[in-house]
Amino acid sequence: MDTRIFLIGFMGSGKSTLGSKLAPTIGYRFMDMDQLIEETADMSIPEIFEEHGEEVFRKWERDILQELCHQEKLVISTGGGAPCHSRMMELMNTHGTTVYIQLPPEVLRDRLIRSRTERPLLQGKSESELLDFITSLLEKREHFYLQASRIVDGVNLRADTLAGLLADT
Ligand code: S3P
Repeated sequence: MDTRIFLIGFMGSGKSTLGSKLAPTIGYRFMDMDQLIEETADMSIPEIFEEHGEEVFRKWERDILQELCHQEKLVISTGGGAPCHSRMMELMNTHGTTVYIQLPPEVLRDRLIRSRTERPLLQGKSESELLDFITSLLEKREHFYLQASRIVDGVNLRADTLAGLLADT
């Protein structure tokens, strides 16, 4: 198994939840990129977007990712936009196995309705606007996600199933 497993996919696809369960199952450490950025900046993601803007956030995201690419035996949950900016998909594919957790827009919408406020890109969207927004952003992003080494169906996906899939690589 590769020494770094990057979980990628749209907001709400379960990267952090799955990653935190997968890591101990395979004896790796778990790293959540969003959490690392928040800790380093001592600010929440919405505060970072508001005070510094998305461009600065993407730069910090890449800096953190680059640092993680020097560490061993990690499961890393990435932010939903990371693979689509600053050639981060290429960086991840060079340094480990990337796993795209794929989910249809309707399922993402149902999962994201309650956590809209924690995510700057979704703030202010009504329930009816949310599905269109997710569908069109996913369309723009999916060609990055599809460059992943593994593509897995995120519906009812369990960490032990994922561990089994990765053991075969
Ligand atoms: C973002 C996804 C978020 C976070 C930030 C931007 C995106 O992470 O990095 O709000 O551009 O899709 P999650 O995918 O963990 O929600």
